[in-house]
Amino acid sequence: MVNPVWSFGVLLLPGFQLLDMAGTIDYFQLHSFEYMNGIGLATPDIINNAPIINWHFIAQDMNPVNTSVGPPVPPTVTFETAPKLDYLLVPGSDPFVVLPSVATKFVQKTFHDPSLKGLLTVCTGSMVLAQTGILDNHKVCSNKMVLKYASEHGLINHNVTWIGDRRWNQDGKVWSAAGVTAGLDLAAGFLENWIAEDGRKLAQDLFEYHPNPRFPDRFASILAGVDVNKK
Ligand SMILES: *[C@@H]1O[C@H](CO)[C@@H](O)[C@H](O)[C@H]1NC(C)=O
Ligand SMILES: *[C@@H]1O[C@H](CO)[C@@H](O)[C@H](O)[C@H]1NC(C)=O
Repeated sequence: MVNPVWSFGVLLLPGFQLLDMAGTIDYFQLHSFEYMNGIGLATPDIINNAPIINWHFIAQDMNPVNTSVGPPVPPTVTFETAPKLDYLLVPGSDPFVVLPSVATKFVQKTFHDPSLKGLLTVCTGSMVLAQTGILDNHKVCSNKMVLKYASEHGLINHNVTWIGDRRWNQDGKVWSAAGVTAGLDLAAGFLENWIAEDGRKLAQDLFEYHPNPRFPDRFASILAGVDVNKK
């Protein structure tokens, strides 16, 4: 077995957008050993190289966390019991709610731990995390409509350089997606580094999804003429 093993955390913040999480993790999981080994359609090569993904759903306590729609999602670990992570995904939630200090500390500790290889944010997840300072001096995507609103209301965090014309971006260990469905394109772009073309093609055909490139982005027009980074 040569399969890489990934310890993958998902931060569940109150009221998070369900698809930010669900779309992104489901797209990842489709490429996993567990999935590819179970469907009877993958070649031994695809199966033997597929990552084993151990998911950890993380919250302040073990109470189920509500989402944009549907039943609350039960965490599997807390900030205190979360294992070491290779990757942390942060789906979007209300970007203007002040994070509790325990959440800020967890995010800072996890991000600065050298064992963390990547932080992935979807939609307003990046605006929420900007509060913690970990995105300072990074080039980061977020939901364009919300960036526009924040810009018009003086709510932009200027320690971060916001990108208004991409589906997603990578800057160091920060992988950020624009609004909601851009999480799928971020996942696809990330997986290009790990999964050979035949495995990605099989996953795309199963998901019936053709990932959008990082650029050009048809939603860039939302922020055309708006300089969100202007102080
Ligand atoms: C989720 O919970 C938060 C905090 O209790 C609350 O403010 C919010 O309205 C709830 N959202 C939904 C979609 O139920
Ligand atoms: C930006 O960074 C400075 C210096 O670290 C800090 O004092 C300030 O609070 C930060 N601003 C925001 C909006 O986070």
